[in-house]
Amino acid sequence: MITKKTVGDVFSAVSKKYDFFLNLITFGNIDRWQRDLLGMLPYEGNRLDVGTGTGEVLLKSQNKGLRVGIDLSLEMLKVAKGKCKACKFLVADGENMPFKDSVFSSISLSLVYRHLLNRKAFLMEAKRALKKEGYIALLDINRFALTPLLVFLMKYPLKPLGLLLFGKDKWGFFIHSLENSFSIEEVKWELKEEGFEVVEVQRRLFGLVYILLAKKG
Ligand SMILES: C[S@@+](CC[C@H](N)C(=O)[O-])C[C@H]1O[C@@H](n2cnc3c(N)ncnc32)[C@H](O)[C@@H]1O
Repeated sequence: MITKKTVGDVFSAVSKKYDFFLNLITFGNIDRWQRDLLGMLPYEGNRLDVGTGTGEVLLKSQNKGLRVGIDLSLEMLKVAKGKCKACKFLVADGENMPFKDSVFSSISLSLVYRHLLNRKAFLMEAKRALKKEGYIALLDINRFALTPLLVFLMKYPLKPLGLLLFGKDKWGFFIHSLENSFSIEEVKWELKEEGFEVVEVQRRLFGLVYILLAKKG
């Protein structure tokens, strides 16, 4: 069974190779997609990046207020801290955040939503921590016709590379997380259920990746 400790441990174990691998598997597109994600958000106010990992989103963020990143993995955050001294990083759970109500103007999640074990708990927390009319932006894998192809690539042609870089268990975790991705329609529905208004959805890489903006009602 996958627990939060499993998630934190897996990402801690891969923290030093993570950026290299992500760049490779996204064909060098991740930087642009994350900039597009940030481009959807307002520049004003404090920003929270949930599951910030190695800190790339906050490093690129040009918002005027605080830049705060949380993650379950201390090792990922150590890499993040090395990149962005002006950002604040802390080990914390996106499903139970250590913040007061209404402190952030925007919340971003890059490649995190499908890893959350309780998305409803996260959305309730996001709503609480966001100011009135605050925004949430998600970038993630869309579950649709091409997703099984990516799973196939990871299970077969990319397997030797995956095993070499991450080992059997961690490679299996990444394949499972891909199989566990959600369709844009499912994500939109979950957001609406928690009172967010979906404002914009963009697709990348033939629809395999989505970037979505929603507003707290
Ligand atoms: C695939 S990485 C994405 C990292 C970074 N956002 C990026 O785009 O490269 C997923 C990250 O989410 C973190 N994570 C997963 N569940 C979380 C939770 N409930 N609270 C905080 N972080 C979480 C993991 O530890 C991991 O660092």
